[in-house]
Amino acid sequence: MSRIDTATLTILAGEANRAPSTHNTQPARFVLDEAGRILIVADLSRRLAIGDPTNRDMGLSCGAALEGLTMALAGRGIGAAVEDFWPEDMQWRPGYRLAARVTLAGEATSPERAAFTEKRFTWRGAFSPATAETLAKLESWALQTDDVIFAGGRDALSFIATLNDEASLTVMRERAFREELVAWMRLSPNHPTYAADGLNLDALRMGRMEGAVAGRILASPLFDLADRVGLAKPLVSEAGKTMTAAACLLFHRPDGESPVATGRAFYRFWLDFTRLGFAGWPMAVLADVPVAADTLRKRFSLPSGCRLINVLRVGPAPSPPAKCRLPAGDLVLEEKPT
Ligand SMILES: Cc1cc2nc3c(=O)[nH]c(=O)nc-3n(C[C@H](O)[C@H](O)[C@H](O)COP(=O)(O)O)c2cc1C
Repeated sequence: MSRIDTATLTILAGEANRAPSTHNTQPARFVLDEAGRILIVADLSRRLAIGDPTNRDMGLSCGAALEGLTMALAGRGIGAAVEDFWPEDMQWRPGYRLAARVTLAGEATSPERAAFTEKRFTWRGAFSPATAETLAKLESWALQTDDVIFAGGRDALSFIATLNDEASLTVMRERAFREELVAWMRLSPNHPTYAADGLNLDALRMGRMEGAVAGRILASPLFDLADRVGLAKPLVSEAGKTMTAAACLLFHRPDGESPVATGRAFYRFWLDFTRLGFAGWPMAVLADVPVAADTLRKRFSLPSGCRLINVLRVGPAPSPPAKCRLPAGDLVLEEKPT
């Protein structure tokens, strides 16, 4: 069995943590156990109590980081045998949930998609036009991929854009949700973790003034006031930008799958369309608001026995935002209880 030391684990953790996570919370932590295995634990202080009351999204984010870890190991020729502990709901130590354990076993070669972890990002602006050729490649890849449904053309985009705005408004009407979201927004460059976690102005494609106004309105009763006079809808609307996407991709997975396994598949899916030259912008509300998910299930004939996980707008993006991540050293924990 291969062995790694803490310094190597820190480098691997930094690479693994390029994975997407909800609100850029980056909840996955990495521990080397006495037997030389790597534990992936979820830092519960990063949980979204309102947006993710069952910690399902946290499991997905840990799964994505786990997939990142297996790719980072494979990049060094090291194979990984993964045990998924999420369904057990086990505490590793107070404040941490055990997500998975990786035993370093055998040899591995990097999958092609591993070369795209640095090129993948969330794009929340207007997309650039895609060529007919790249769009055809995307559609043909989606057709051959079991857990992806391609939704292209103006009618489908407009249907999804409208549904997304409606679902977003439903969710944003809850004050506690908005407060939690704003707490993870980094709306001033003076924020102490502006470049390390959460959603900053660059990631949100907002100017300083726009950010200041958004923060003020979202985190106060001003939103309800705006809602009463019909101004909340235009405030949360993303339809204009959604309509610039080349297509939408509906990502689904088998019912009852562990969130960690789903998160691994989600990261693979995102890297695979990155490889085809597309950036993505998720609309998680379309999967989380039951009426929206049901509507999409019918309109796009989702197979039975599957759950809609997310819907992503995809298209070429003019320029990637700067990557904001925690220092790799903060991602590695000592095995012994502190
Ligand atoms: C499970 C999951 C759901 C997400 N849902 C949304 C979403 O609804 N809207 C959004 O703008 N970003 C969403 N994201 C993207 C994250 O905010 C993003 O990955 C994070 O901010 C890190 O940025 P990066 O993807 O550019 O590395 C989601 C990510 C994950 C893993």
